[in-house]
Amino acid sequence: MAETDKKFIEEKVSEIKELAGIEKVVSALSGGVDSAAATVLAHKAVGKNLSAFFIDTGLMRQDEYENVVNSMEDYNIEIKLIDAKEEFFSALKGISDPEEKRKAFRNTFYSVFGKILKKEKAQYLVQGTIKADVIETKAGVKTQHNVLEQVGISPELYGLKIIEPLKELYKDEVRNVAKELGLEKTIYERMPFPGPGLSIRVIGEVTKERINIVRRATYIVEQELKELKPFQAFAVLMNDRATGLKNNERNYGNMIIIRAVESKNAMTAEPTQIPFNILQKLGKKITNEMPEIVRVAYEITAKPPATVEYE
Ligand code: XMP
Repeated sequence: MAETDKKFIEEKVSEIKELAGIEKVVSALSGGVDSAAATVLAHKAVGKNLSAFFIDTGLMRQDEYENVVNSMEDYNIEIKLIDAKEEFFSALKGISDPEEKRKAFRNTFYSVFGKILKKEKAQYLVQGTIKADVIETKAGVKTQHNVLEQVGISPELYGLKIIEPLKELYKDEVRNVAKELGLEKTIYERMPFPGPGLSIRVIGEVTKERINIVRRATYIVEQELKELKPFQAFAVLMNDRATGLKNNERNYGNMIIIRAVESKNAMTAEPTQIPFNILQKLGKKITNEMPEIVRVAYEITAKPPATVEYE
């Protein structure tokens, strides 16, 4: 196992070296294992010619920039933070359709990186696209935020050339490579998180207020289910509302769905069998700590027929 991973790393490092030559390379970090592994591979290949960026889309989980900085500490890779919140929120304004949202996100994502590359006088963007992202986008299931060339869109449109060292690997294989690269356990075991982030976990229109609600609920879900080590666990904010009772008063509030799944590579998944007492505690915690929420439900659908994310 480790031998295969070592060989993979050697091959990818020399491929990136050859491709980039003496050009500058920019990498996109998101806090997840895929982008962390892609960044470390590129750093091994081009050293100081790599600049790593974390884009604050406004749609990330709590404390994400700090997590990313900590995860790269051992590698001496400086991470530049770009605040692009306003660009993403204005691109998503008024959009409720899931695929439209994903496309608006993708367009903004590459426009932001196009500008960064120009400023950095860099040729290449390294990103952590993996096999499932490509398969699902090509199959028309979902437009994954980081798939362009494979669906016939030239990255040159955004002024980019793209390097995707992990595009032949599934999630479990990426985790092994990340471990072999020396990344910390908190990174190589981290739950997947989609590029378009919390925007696809708010059903209907994305607003700052609704993103804040789902971010807080997501944090509670992740904390409370940590010990069960699900493949993925998160909160989704529904678009409909429901009647509830808070402080002895009628409250026509919001509904949160908890989604937790077990999977190997995200191509298929089963709902996590969470003990009922933990679910009950989770429901109470969310409604107690979040005045906006009057109902919490747990989802029990496998993939297929559902998908992991709601949009
Ligand atoms: P679905 O919802 O298609 O998700 O069953 C499968 C896995 O992919 C993640 N996901 C994404 N990852 N960009 C990503 O990098 C995306 O646009 C994206 N959409 C879904 C999802 O969280 C799950 O692990």
